[in-house]
Amino acid sequence: MESPVVRFKDVSYAYEQKNVLTKINFSIPKGSFMGLIGPNGGGKTTLIKLLLGLINPDEGSIDLLDQPRDKFKEWNKIGFVSQKANSFNKGFPATVFEVVSMGLTAKVGYLKFLTKAHKEKILSTIDQVGMLDYAYQNIGNLSGGQQQRVFIARSLVNNPELLILDEPTVGVDYENVQRFYELLNRLNTDYGITLLLVTHDTGTMTEHATDIACINTRLHFHGKPEEYNNLTDRDLSKLYGHPVNLVTHDH
Ligand SMILES: Nc1ncnc2c1ncn2[C@@H]1O[C@H](COP(=O)(O)OP(=O)(O)O)[C@@H](O)[C@H]1O
Ligand SMILES: [Mg+2]
Repeated sequence: MESPVVRFKDVSYAYEQKNVLTKINFSIPKGSFMGLIGPNGGGKTTLIKLLLGLINPDEGSIDLLDQPRDKFKEWNKIGFVSQKANSFNKGFPATVFEVVSMGLTAKVGYLKFLTKAHKEKILSTIDQVGMLDYAYQNIGNLSGGQQQRVFIARSLVNNPELLILDEPTVGVDYENVQRFYELLNRLNTDYGITLLLVTHDTGTMTEHATDIACINTRLHFHGKPEEYNNLTDRDLSKLYGHPVNLVTHDH
């Protein structure tokens, strides 16, 4: 079997004295669409911060694309879109083209040094997320869902192997959430990008993801959506630590 894109081995992490993740063993198969779910405060964002090298595990180890995270240098193969991306200031004076170019300028320097090939790549990436008609519009004038697509394009412009999204659909309305998932499925199946999506929207996610992991300090479940859907209310309340009425109404 092909080696996973990400592998956590016995990873534990505490902020000050507060244990947040305990002995997490978790891997993301290449080409999968991994949905990461769990209650608020369960440690999902912390897991991503560990993955991205923003914090270090207290115990255990993390491999990225077959290398120990501490030696890993190919960070442009890992794209990240955060939740905050969609609370963009309305007055921010940048066009969609400029925002997407920022994904590349980290590599090529300031915008005016972009070559024709860079510009074509930027436009084709904007097209890939269905935003070509808006390429020269101001980002601040777009809806939350449209802005989120643009931020995805900003990550995609580097051809990442893994794209990580932390609660990207918070504040996006139902119809746009559906379109958003269609886009993610396309990136996954047509472009072969491995996805790690953190969400509270378990219902929509189990329809689209290929794999599901649930964390609440510990990894409580790691398997296929069908298996997740077969969990009983009792399993779920054990997972969430309280009787559930699923966690789809978090704000
Ligand atoms: N920088 C921090 N300092 C101290 N505690 C934190 C910090 N960030 C998160 N926490 C705590 O760690 C726990 C897990 O947080 P987080 O990983 O953000 O969970 P999730 O993303 O699943 O909601 C929470 O109890 C949170 O309050
Ligand atoms: Mg979080």
